[in-house]
Amino acid sequence: MLTLQVQKPKLILEDGRRTDGRRPDEMRPIKMEVGILKNANGSAIVEMGKTKVLTAVYGPREMHPRHLALPDRAVMRVRYHMTPFSTDDRKNPSLSRREIEISKVIREALEAAVLAETFPRTTIDVFSEVLQADAGTRLVALMSASLAVADAGIPMRDLIAGVAVGKADGTLVLDLNEEEDMWGEADMPIAMMPSLSQVTLLQLNGNFTPEEFRAAIQLASKGIEELYKLQKETLTSKYSAYKEVN
Ligand code: CDP
Repeated sequence: MLTLQVQKPKLILEDGRRTDGRRPDEMRPIKMEVGILKNANGSAIVEMGKTKVLTAVYGPREMHPRHLALPDRAVMRVRYHMTPFSTDDRKNPSLSRREIEISKVIREALEAAVLAETFPRTTIDVFSEVLQADAGTRLVALMSASLAVADAGIPMRDLIAGVAVGKADGTLVLDLNEEEDMWGEADMPIAMMPSLSQVTLLQLNGNFTPEEFRAAIQLASKGIEELYKLQKETLTSKYSAYKEVN
């Protein structure tokens, strides 16, 4: 019988750089834009390297079926979905267990930020579509969702920014790429409401020593600060342009 053995690639090269040329504490290039869909109440697209996620927000609007509505707040419904063309192999378009789980963690993170009690008996529907996947899709989806909710004019405690931090060949690395996600020793996506210093998502695949964990949080915080600044600039530039015209 023929067995194919795939060898783990070297993740940190001789010069200390990563397979994509980045230093361990460097993030991929980031792009953000809000208000890109005419028919949604709020929308955003966020790109981190080759990972691209588009989010549309509808609501607050009447809840159907009505018996699911809550008397004291809006219900958040979140669907994270990978398009069939987002991965190397065609992805089955129906929702996988992984996508259902990621939808849940994104919803819980957003619920911490959104002032849902402002809109009782309504629903806020959030659709995040991964257009291209190259690691970090749950965080890019969450950041685009938080921007799209803000773009819909829904009051929030804070925006949410997040990045993955991990370990590749024993080195702590910020914003994992797909190779590092697949072959590294640890992958920890973390998202925060930065101005409140509150963590709204934290998962860990693999392991860290307590010292590595502390250093990983420090490294992630540095990336999150940068992402948060860009999120605020993205919203400000759209709405200051709006003010000038009107
Ligand atoms: O995307 P994220 O890092 O949040 O989640 P993951 O489950 O750790 O997936 C890591 C990466 O594996 C994704 O970003 C995709 O690039 C890839 N993936 C894939 O190619 N096909 C899937 N069905 C699921 C994930």
